Amino acid sequence: MSELERLSFTIEAPLLDRLERARVAAGYENRSEFLRDLIRAHLVERSWDDEQGDVVGTITLVYDHHKRQLGERLTSLQHEHHEEVLATTHVHLDQHTCTEVILARGKPEVLRRLADGLRSQKGVLHGEFTMTSTGQGLR
Ligand code: NI
Repeated sequence: MSELERLSFTIEAPLLDRLERARVAAGYENRSEFLRDLIRAHLVERSWDDEQGDVVGTITLVYDHHKRQLGERLTSLQHEHHEEVLATTHVHLDQHTCTEVILARGKPEVLRRLADGLRSQKGVLHGEFTMTSTGQGLR
C-alpha cells in the first residue's frame, strides 16, 4: 500500500449524517475506507474518458434459446474479439432462456462495440454492459 496522508475537511452536519447512514448501510466499519472507496469509484467512473487505457468489461446477455442460429452468432462475434474476450459463462436459466456473462479486457470503445453487436442480435431479450478499471492508477 502507498504511504497514507491525513486529510482534514469540513462538511455540513446533514451531509455527514447521510454519509454515515450510507456507510453503515454499505457495511463499512471504517469511515476512511468508505471514503477511499467512494473516491476510487468516482475516479473509475471518469476513467472511461481516458481512451488510452484498457478497461475490464462484463457483458451480460439474456436470450431466447430457441431463436435460430442465435447461439452461433453470439459465439462468432466473440471469436472475432478473441483478443478481448477473457471468459464466458453460460447458464441455462430454464427450458427456453439462456444467460451468458462475458468478461473482456480492452479499449473501452472496442468493448462497447462488442457489447452493442451482441445485444442487438434478434432474440437477445436483455443486455447489460458494465466497465470497470483494470486497477492501474488506483493504488
Ligand atoms: Ni443455455
